[in-house]
Amino acid sequence: MTRRSCPDLVGVSRRTAKRPQAFKWDHHHPAPLSHLSHLFYALQTMSLSFKGHTVVVTGAGGGLGKAYSLLFASRGANIVVNDFNQAAAQKVVDEITKAGGKAVVNCSSVTDGAAVIKAAVDAFGTVTILINNAGILRDKNFRNITDKEWDQVYEVHIKGSYACTKAAWPIFRKQKFGRIINTASAAGLYGNFGQTNYSAAKMGLVGFTKTLAREGDKYNIRAIAIAPMAASAMTETVMPPDLLANMKPEWVAPLVLAVTHPDGPNANGKVFELGAGFIAEVRWERSKGAIFKTDATFTPSAVKEKWEQITDFTNADHPESLADFDPQGTLSQAMKLPSNPQSSPEVRYDGKTAIITGAGQGLGRAYALMYARLGANVVVNDVSEKGANAVVEEITRAGGKAAATVGSVEDGDAIVKVALEKFGAGTGAIYVSASARSAQDISPYLTFFLVQYHAYGATASCICICICIFVFARGHSAACAILGEPIWLLGACPCVMLIDICARAWRRS
Ligand SMILES: NC(=O)c1ccc[n+]([C@@H]2O[C@H](COP(=O)([O-])OP(=O)(O)OC[C@H]3O[C@@H](n4cnc5c(N)ncnc54)[C@H](O)[C@@H]3O)[C@@H](O)[C@H]2O)c1
Repeated sequence: MTRRSCPDLVGVSRRTAKRPQAFKWDHHHPAPLSHLSHLFYALQTMSLSFKGHTVVVTGAGGGLGKAYSLLFASRGANIVVNDFNQAAAQKVVDEITKAGGKAVVNCSSVTDGAAVIKAAVDAFGTVTILINNAGILRDKNFRNITDKEWDQVYEVHIKGSYACTKAAWPIFRKQKFGRIINTASAAGLYGNFGQTNYSAAKMGLVGFTKTLAREGDKYNIRAIAIAPMAASAMTETVMPPDLLANMKPEWVAPLVLAVTHPDGPNANGKVFELGAGFIAEVRWERSKGAIFKTDATFTPSAVKEKWEQITDFTNADHPESLADFDPQGTLSQAMKLPSNPQSSPEVRYDGKTAIITGAGQGLGRAYALMYARLGANVVVNDVSEKGANAVVEEITRAGGKAAATVGSVEDGDAIVKVALEKFGAGTGAIYVSASARSAQDISPYLTFFLVQYHAYGATASCICICICIFVFARGHSAACAILGEPIWLLGACPCVMLIDICARAWRRS
């Protein structure tokens, strides 16, 4: 990730830095910022003041971060406009200071959270509100994603939010006030094609928020997660313009300010989905579920038999904490049950290969033993050689098939290699051969090529298919990265048309 050099603080020196004043309501209307929408103006003229607060907004050079910064500043807050794009951050600071507000630039990467928070302390004496907003995309279909693209997204979203929060936390605790907004995404809540890295990181921020909320509560530190939708540099390439026109970042900012104000609603640990004038809370829903007798009849077939009950959301619960599950009560009910009914045919794994990581003990060992009992070849991975070998021995002694692979899960290739070497690629669930995948990917083209070959002969078909591959390869693979597998098939249609046109022209000439 590139970092541009930046004079960390602009326009405010240590001498002029002030400690925050007591928080109070402001009944004066702040000056409206010229270009904002009616809704923004309506909320702006309401009376939540942030005088005496210092707000750090990361990734504030544009999009959502800029909208938050302008609104906080218009309500009297000191702003640290963080962005590693220095020019963009400076523009936001200029806009704020021109309108009479107070702001400084910081262009450290959010992964250097200490430097980001230091900028606030140096300029304004403290930080009271942290908006973890900086973000990047490295969209790729999971099949094509590289380790680097996975790590980059994790670095900015997870490590960045962690690092800034970690640096602000002792200050928040000491002053017994702190508000944190973590920016999740609908892609994390629901999943989205081409965004495994981004979705995983964004959902990680939901868990991060919920735990911060618990740990910070007694110090009056609150953490809230938002899944926004807004037009920005990030979304302009992935959303149609007419939709973007109705998704102003300014329409996400009111919720952010409302829940970070000392007198705002208590939204600690909550998750909100918002954009285009819509704000809603998102929560967990848990079905009433099924209870099983915990004896030898508690098998995969027993689970299959009760699948409808497990997934029936009638009268569902909405758990809010670990305490909302009562294992003792469940177990005492389970003990009173008769043996579990089994689905037919029995669920079995003969000829399949199951890889289980961390299988040297605990849950992993339990999975390994059950898969082996039900006919699978089992690859037992663990960093503990003793643990992995013991489980393999246990399985083979009972007549099952297992192989150990000792090593850390970061080295996924080595683990899969053991599975392929010991049990072969064609024997079951493992399907990772790169060459097999490529063959599958080009199969629609191959079919069309054969049709052309029959109709027009080898030379014409070869030349035409080369042209097609040349024309489509670049744009097509980019589209696949974003939209995933089905686009290969869609792409085949224009491809065959082109082949046809070229072949006919060739024949006529
Ligand atoms: N816009 C949406 O619809 C949407 C949807 C879901 C989530 N989000 C999230 O909202 C946040 C803001 O996104 P946006 O749409 O305004 O995008 P944006 O691209 O306009 O803004 C992101 C900013 O973060 C900055 N940035 C990136 N890496 C950084 C780093 N390491 N350190 C400091 N700054 C860094 C970029 O320079 C950019 O200015 C992101 O976390 C994004 O994932 C946005």
